[in-house]
Amino acid sequence: MGYSIAVLKGDGIGPDVVDCTIGVLNKVAAEHGTVFEYNEGLIGGIAIDETGVPLPGDTIEICKKSDAVLLGAVGGAVGGSRWDNPDGSLRPEAGLLGIRKELGLFANLRPAVIYPALKDASPLRSGIVGDGIDILVVRELTGGIYFGEKFTCDDYAYDTMKYSAMEVERIARVAFEAAMKRNKKVTSVDKANVLDVSRFWRKIIIDVSREYPEVELLHMYVDNAAMQLIKDPHQFDVIVTGNMFGDILSDEAAMITGSIGMLASASLAEGTMGLFEPVHGSAPDIAGKDIANPIATILSSAMMLRYSLGMPAAADDIEKAVARVLEEGYRTADIAKKGERTVGTVQMGEAIKKFL
Ligand code: IPM
Ligand code: MG
Repeated sequence: MGYSIAVLKGDGIGPDVVDCTIGVLNKVAAEHGTVFEYNEGLIGGIAIDETGVPLPGDTIEICKKSDAVLLGAVGGAVGGSRWDNPDGSLRPEAGLLGIRKELGLFANLRPAVIYPALKDASPLRSGIVGDGIDILVVRELTGGIYFGEKFTCDDYAYDTMKYSAMEVERIARVAFEAAMKRNKKVTSVDKANVLDVSRFWRKIIIDVSREYPEVELLHMYVDNAAMQLIKDPHQFDVIVTGNMFGDILSDEAAMITGSIGMLASASLAEGTMGLFEPVHGSAPDIAGKDIANPIATILSSAMMLRYSLGMPAAADDIEKAVARVLEEGYRTADIAKKGERTVGTVQMGEAIKKFL
């Protein structure tokens, strides 16, 4: 028996890092006595170029028929690309938002971790970083202001932030379950001093928390959370929040690790379906040059093995191999210190395969 994986390489460095990851997956599959079948689909800017839309129907079909989705990146250069479009539904990013909705990927897990070998990379003072940072951001991904009613006319425009009890409940459960396996602390982030939707969010979170008496629950306003993340990141274990606050805070949490090229993410539906992608973007300036760091995507594939394919031992193997190459001093340019020798995308993939 094997598994089928939908592969959406997307734009920029997407193909570089996904190709490299497939090499690692094939080796892991062989070692664990299974095979993966890959079904490629178009998404993002490349899909616009080839089909006129960022998320062709074929791609949705391919994903729905597969056991999991591996995604590279979507989008063009910030501040000017041929895909910039005043109609938001025709931008590359709409492909990503569309596939999240189509597959019901409501739970976005974004671990922000510092590897001991890369401790110095954090832009925070070493006194604040201490022995490392390990935060899990659990972001609601298919609701809130991203998907509420929207409207634009000549005189005004609006978006709506709306959450149903069901939507808050299910993301709350994901956060509390994750906390049970970690340090048993959940910080729910909202803007309950201003927004009705946040006061509602808070009430539902408190309701769900009664099922998890072992987990400590704290509430924090989003502006304060943005500050506390920098002031004392160690106070956080699991952060649970809505779609837009989670978008912002997960970038901030990623940055304080100092190595966004290392961070993986999982977007999960009810059941086992999931989409796995690096936290970093498409970095079009370095696309196709064999310099992008493939580790975030490789670690995302480990999350895929763990959450969607039921292969936790294989996931452990990948994560250990990554830790090992870092200890051995392998560095792509983004994580190298001045003067340190660097390897390219392909070489990094080969090194990880060697230590599997
Ligand atoms: C992310 C990205 C997306 C988002 C964009 C590309 C639509 O910033 O995955 O965090 O806002 O969700
Ligand atoms: Mg974002």
